[in-house]
Formats: sequence, structure tokens, C-alpha cells
Amino acid sequence: MTGSLTLPHPPMAAGPPPGLPGPGLARLLPGSGAAPADLRAHLTAHGPLGPAGGRDGLLREVAAAGLTGRGGAAFPVARKLAAAAQTRPAPVVVGNGAEGEPASGKDRSLLWISPHLVLDGLQLAAAAAGSAAAVLYVPRDERLHGRLAGAIAERAAAGIDAAHVELVTAPGRFLAGEESALVSRLAGRPALPAYRPVRGLPRLTPGRAALVQNVETLAHLALIVRYGAAWFRTAGTESEPGTMLATLHLADGRTSVAEVPLGVGLAGLLGLDAGPECPPGAAPAGPGVPSAFGPVQAVLVGGYHGSWLPATQAAGLPLANAALHPLGAMVGAGVLAALPADRCGLTETARVARYLALESAGQCGPCFNGLPRMAAALEHLAGPRPDRRARADLERWAGLVTGRGACHHPDGSVRFIRSALRVFAAEAGLHEQGRCSGTDPRPFLPVPAGAPATDEDWS
Ligand SMILES: Cc1cc2nc3c(=O)[nH]c(=O)nc-3n(C[C@H](O)[C@H](O)[C@H](O)COP(=O)(O)O)c2cc1C
Ligand code: SF4
Repeated sequence: MTGSLTLPHPPMAAGPPPGLPGPGLARLLPGSGAAPADLRAHLTAHGPLGPAGGRDGLLREVAAAGLTGRGGAAFPVARKLAAAAQTRPAPVVVGNGAEGEPASGKDRSLLWISPHLVLDGLQLAAAAAGSAAAVLYVPRDERLHGRLAGAIAERAAAGIDAAHVELVTAPGRFLAGEESALVSRLAGRPALPAYRPVRGLPRLTPGRAALVQNVETLAHLALIVRYGAAWFRTAGTESEPGTMLATLHLADGRTSVAEVPLGVGLAGLLGLDAGPECPPGAAPAGPGVPSAFGPVQAVLVGGYHGSWLPATQAAGLPLANAALHPLGAMVGAGVLAALPADRCGLTETARVARYLALESAGQCGPCFNGLPRMAAALEHLAGPRPDRRARADLERWAGLVTGRGACHHPDGSVRFIRSALRVFAAEAGLHEQGRCSGTDPRPFLPVPAGAPATDEDWS
């Protein structure tokens, strides 16, 4: 999706909010959304990074803005920056643009179109941490590397950066952007998640910590410092302020990246008819909800570690963790996919589950053995006349795998699979009778093409 951003739906509002300086809702991907900004255009649009009142002023403004990480976990940024400011020696500051999730395109779009916002944010995070060393960790993509290397060189020529920025390539694996895997890669080892959950900031070496922030988080930081916390809060909700980049997979197969306020209705984003909402936790996918892009049976919220929701339910929900968490779903990194009514939800889930199983880093038995077993059971369930015990087996294995990995991968994968068992329960019943409601066999959710990943692909 790099550089091939389609126009968002619905169109983004342009211009600053009344009475306030700064860009409107199109904050990170301004204008037509597709033209990359060089340093001159960037400075014309936003001006130089002014003094933020020193480190304390910066931390206060970010805390007042309520900015949370946009890499998936929504952790408060001010708390991480404050921890980094107290860490000695100063941590290496990392902009995480790995975007290993195949259904997400927002970080690549941001890096391509607004690299200087990300680089500004990286400098601000480095200043908060008192660090002179920064890394931009990005996917293996020659064009993107060229573009980013050019942006870093432009800034060096202009003498505007205090911290030195190094570009580091992320392997094309689902887990490459997980914080401990990233740190392992930066330390010269394979990008495998660490065995033990790390307390506080992750360690590159025993003596050196890393402050890791998603690249979108850094871009928001660059705008908050310029336009202020009050401006940032003019979008979003009280508890989840600001905008976020969402990758939208519409029912007609088109994909776009849109910048949207947190709390916006999923119905508007995906063109769904917002009919009467079905009660939480209930309803199978059913025949679907009409949408501007064709009937939709279910919505995947939060990507491949996220959850399926019936379209009837999703149509009444906002893009906000406050509403999604009670349903076992989450905003995550903003991936939303409207599954058309003519696809088999079990087949889609089985294909993604196989991909997730192949992406296990193979370090923990329950994950390495359990996920392939669950993927195989899903493939069986998605086939004709599956064994009636398949669903119970899946639930049992889900219980055995959850919480048993060194990283979050098995838990996230199980969340995704369990939500499919709930939402596509009626479909599973049909399969048990030798039927399938899917009439279009084409895959809908993206998984990387080509040969399955191998053990050598981690660096
Ligand atoms: C399996 C997995 C994959 C992840 N991949 C990414 C990624 O590609 N990019 C990213 O920024 N964060 C990713 N994360 C989250 C990071 O571990 C980390 O929380 C994040 O980079 C911190 O930045 P933030 O606080 O600004 O969101 C991933 C987490 C998990 C569990
Ligand atoms: S839980 Fe799975 S993906 Fe995570 S480290 Fe262990 S084997 Fe690797």
C-alpha cells in the first residue's frame, strides 16, 4: 500500500477547527493525502519545532493531551517518556514503523507521505529522554528506505536535528515490530520476542535501554508540541482523545488509510447502514447489514490479534476502547475489515490462523504446537461436514495456549479465533450439515503471498 493511498471514506475534514491554530482532522496525512512532503513543504505547513518549555514542559503538554501509543496497546505516552527521562544512561529512542500486520498500511503511508512529522517526533522523544541516539525501524522496502534516507539527509543539511538517526530494516514478519523482538534485532540478534516480559523500558544490552514508540505516536507528538494539548483534544473523546490512522478494508475489496477521530462510528467508516443494534455478546453473523459497498456480515476490529463482531453489532459501535473492551474487542492499531456477506467467515479465519501459526517464533511449546493444531482444526471446520467435536477441541486448545507464551502472539491469535467461533457459529452449524453460505471463494483478508516464512527470515 506504500504510496498508493486511496482517498479515505468518508472524506476527511480539512482546515483547522474554528478558533484554533493547526491542521484540522487531516492532521497527519494532510491535503490530498498522497503527495510526499519534503522538508520545505513540511516547514511551510507547520513551522519549525518551537521550544516546548524544556523537558518538563514537553512532558506536561503530552500528559495534558492524553496521547496514547498508536502501535496497538494504547499505553499513555507521557508515562513512557517520563520513565525514559529518568533512565541513565539515556535510552536509545526508536520509531517503530515495522508494521508486521499484513492488514495494516497506516505506518507505511505515514512514513511515505509525512516523514518529517515522524522525524520531528523522534527528535522530541530523544530530547525528552536526553538521548543523542535514535533509530527508525522500518520494513524492508527499497523505495521507502530511499525516501526516508533522503528526509534524514535533508534535515542533516539543514542542521535541525540534535539526535543522530539510523535507519534499521525490520524483517517482514508479523512479530518483527513487537517491542522485545525489535530490541533483539537492534542488538544484532534475530528479531525474536524475548522469553520473559520485561519490566520498564526494554534493554538493548544490560547497560542500555530503549524507548520504543510507534511512528504514528511520534507524529502526533510533533503536532502536540506545535499546536498544544487543547488543540489535540478537539478531536476524539474525553478518555480517548485525538485522531488515529485507520486501515479500512471495505466490503467491495477496496482498502484505504484514513485519519479519523477516536470515537467515530464504525458504521460511517465502513459505509454500514446503522440499523437497530444487537445486544452485546450475542448474534451470529447472519445475512448481513447493507453497506454502501455491498452487504457486510461481520467486521474484524483491531486486526489479526483483534476480534470479529457481527456487522449488526459493529454498526452501532464507536472506534473506542471504552466501548470495544467490554465486548472483548479493541481498537489496536486501527485495522477494520468489513467481511462481505458472500464470503465464508470460517474459511477467512482459517487462512489467517494458518498464517499466524506459521509466524510463531517457535520458542514456546504451547504456541509452536498449539497454533498449527488450531489452524488445522479451523481448516477442518471450514470444510464439508466437519467432525462435531472440532469446535469443542478448538475451545479446549484455546484454553491450553492462552497465557503460555513468552510474548502476546498466542493470546492475540486465540482472541481472533475465539471471536470467529462466536460470530460464525451459525456458519459452523451449516458446515456440519454439509453446507456453506460462502458463494465467492476469493480470499478477502490479506496474508503475504509466496512461500511461507522460514526460520532464516528473522533478521
Ligand atoms: C505481536 C505484536 C506485534 C507488534 N507489532 C508492532 C508494529 O509492527 N509496530 C508497532 O509500532 N508496534 C507493534 N507492536 C507493539 C509494540 O510492542 C510496542 O508496544 C509499540 O511499538 C510501542 O509504541 P506505542 O506505545 O507508541 O504504541 C506489536 C506488539 C505485538 C504483541
Ligand atoms: S509465544 Fe510464540 S511467538 Fe511468542 S516467543 Fe513464544 S513461540 Fe515465539
